[in-house]
Amino acid sequence: MRLSTGYSTLQILIHWTIAALVVAQLLTGGDMADAFERVRETSSEGEAPATARLHMGIGATILVLVVLRTLARALQGVPPASPASPRWDVLLSRASHTAMYVLLYAVPLAGLSAWLSKSEAVGELHATLKSLLVAVVLLHIAGALFHQFWLRDNLIARMLRSDTR
Ligand code: HEM
Repeated sequence: MRLSTGYSTLQILIHWTIAALVVAQLLTGGDMADAFERVRETSSEGEAPATARLHMGIGATILVLVVLRTLARALQGVPPASPASPRWDVLLSRASHTAMYVLLYAVPLAGLSAWLSKSEAVGELHATLKSLLVAVVLLHIAGALFHQFWLRDNLIARMLRSDTR
């Protein structure tokens, strides 16, 4: 992996696009769950409401974006940990970044599998993984605030302006 001084414009764009799309998924998730329930009860495909179709479309988009993001990370690298970070914070941020990548694949794939198999158990797996992702994202946001207001290293700037000298 190439050593990098910051995130590329592509990485930053994908980071914030995925963040916004994850929020959209949380907002449309309830309608999707209702549509899934109806389809399972009537065991017919039917016409899913617009919000449920939006949920499926955005889920597929997140999957494509996370593949692109993984490739960009492998090719362009990521900046080293902030020098202000204590050891526990370096380890926790590494673990949470890895968990977010894994969950960004697992959540949409479980949703797609649930829809295709009409399996209630897979639908529950999708919901559990989603809750895990929300928990890790909240931890991630707490970490960003910790850096901004406690360590005062202005780490957020790395996700706002590209620096790939
Ligand atoms: C208010 C919301 C958010 C803020 C302020 C934020 C901020 C940041 C910052 C500053 C970094 C760079 C950390 C570093 O340079 O060491 C980062 C990286 C990252 N963020 Fe966020 N983020 C937010 C939301 C999200 C969401 C919703 C997700 C995923 C669903 C996410 C996933 C990631 C991942 C996976 C990385 C690691 C990138 C890498 O090193 O490859 N973030 N975020």
